[in-house]
Amino acid sequence: MKARTRIWAGAALALATAAAAWVIQPPIAPVQPPADTDFDSASIARGARVVAQGDCMVCHTAAGGAPYAGGLPLRTPFGTIYTTNITPDRDTGIGAWSLAAFTRALRHGVARDGHLLYPAFPYIHYTRMSTVDINDAYAYLMTRTPVTAKPPANDLLLPLRFRPLLAGWNLLYLRPGPVADDPRQTAEWNRGRYLVDGAGHCASCHSALGPIGGERSPAFSGGNVDGWDAPSLTTLLQAPKPWTREQLALYLRHGWSPEHGAAAGPMGPVAHSLSQVPEADTNAIATYIMSLQQPATHAVAPAPAATADAARVAQGATLFAGACAGCHGAAAPMMTAGGRPSLALSTAVNSDRPDNLIQIVLNGVPWSHAQQTTFMPPFSAALSDAQIASIAAYVRADIGKRPAWNNLEKRTADIRKENQQ
Ligand code: HEC
Ligand code: HEC
Ligand code: HEC
Repeated sequence: MKARTRIWAGAALALATAAAAWVIQPPIAPVQPPADTDFDSASIARGARVVAQGDCMVCHTAAGGAPYAGGLPLRTPFGTIYTTNITPDRDTGIGAWSLAAFTRALRHGVARDGHLLYPAFPYIHYTRMSTVDINDAYAYLMTRTPVTAKPPANDLLLPLRFRPLLAGWNLLYLRPGPVADDPRQTAEWNRGRYLVDGAGHCASCHSALGPIGGERSPAFSGGNVDGWDAPSLTTLLQAPKPWTREQLALYLRHGWSPEHGAAAGPMGPVAHSLSQVPEADTNAIATYIMSLQQPATHAVAPAPAATADAARVAQGATLFAGACAGCHGAAAPMMTAGGRPSLALSTAVNSDRPDNLIQIVLNGVPWSHAQQTTFMPPFSAALSDAQIASIAAYVRADIGKRPAWNNLEKRTADIRKENQQ
């Protein structure tokens, strides 16, 4: 008993010491914002690529705001966090941050003045980035136009406003520093793993999160972000048309792939960022992701469950003919001209949950100058919750040939409400 108590006391002391070392982070002295000429142009160009791999702009730009000036609200189960200004403005951005301060933020989640940053900033992934990549990202960001902008104050649950608590979180989830290459694997696989686990931070959306927001293992088994399901990335061989490496590379690069359709919702901006990195990188990501696949189970799609509401399905068929078939009907010109995949192949239609189908109908697929053939108009104003529920019931039963989803109208109403918040 006594020995046990001593072990526990020892463990507690070790933890407290370790936590204290994390909590107390010294400020790093401010510097004069560096001049553009302080950086090598090759480093700035490489930095553009690193920043695209890391989607930095996606989070650090508010709707209609200046690039990298922050202010985008991120909704978490713990409240709303606003992204910060990472333009080189001296007072409101990171203009006074030295390379050492920037590196510490990415590797350890600590701001220049020493306060701990919230893990909504995916530093547990960015910590894997190489020193060269971090230096280049710094060169790129410090040569952007400085913008004076202060993000709104965060709106978090009371205990979480106390940032030192994050030290405990870091003890659980942060393993700082890059990981050595696996010598048994090819250079391309290692490059892919580096990009996926590091800058790409794919697991931050595609893994389930635990009660305090840490990523659960196994990684990539599917998560949820902004009311969208981010599907499992380890079951791509179990799709109605199993993904190939080439299709995956194409999807990441162009936001669209034959047989698998478009990257919608929060995946849209990710694919847009990846369209700016070299093809060798998207190929490497695809190679690594394909190496994680669980073997295909040749499950035959079960017959639609008897519980599908026949009246609803019939109403959905009529609505679909009017609102959707012009683009998604078997004989629609877009199907044949654009090589659009049948909705029967869509992950959104085959998923256990209706959320992504409802989201796609509500929001459409945004217009993109680079990818005009993937545009779908939003139907949130045109269709009621009941109508969307009917369309979803029809698509699921008659096109997907899958067991019915339950509570579709309620789910549609809830998602609509969440989207408006
Ligand atoms: C998923 C959204 C997200 C992405 C992607 C993201 N950030 Fe952030 N970042 C945040 C949030 C949120 C904060 C603020 C955290 C806080 O206030 O505790 C932040 C804070 C920072 C800070 C600290 C700034 C300060 O003033 O305290 C730096 C530096 C930073 N990010 C750099 C980057 C870089 C570089 C990238 C790309 C490699 C990036 N971020 C990508 C969400 C993101
Ligand atoms: C103006 C043409 C157009 C109309 C009308 C339209 N869509 Fe789409 N839809 C698209 C395009 C383009 C895409 C993106 C490319 C793709 O995935 O095939 C898309 C994608 C989708 C997807 C995602 C497919 C995937 O997994 O990538 C679903 C589900 C979907 N639409 C359902 C509907 C439903 C239901 C309606 C009617 C309420 C509808 N669409 C109306 C053009 C349209
Ligand atoms: C900001 C969150 C986010 C990040 C980061 C993210 N994804 Fe996604 N991803 C999603 C969401 C949401 C969907 C579902 C939307 C859709 O299917 O159109 C998705 C869909 C996908 C799909 C299609 C899966 C299917 O079955 O249809 C693939 C493949 C994919 N992501 C790969 C990746 C890879 C690889 C990375 C890292 C380079 C990544 N994602 C990073 C949110 C994200």
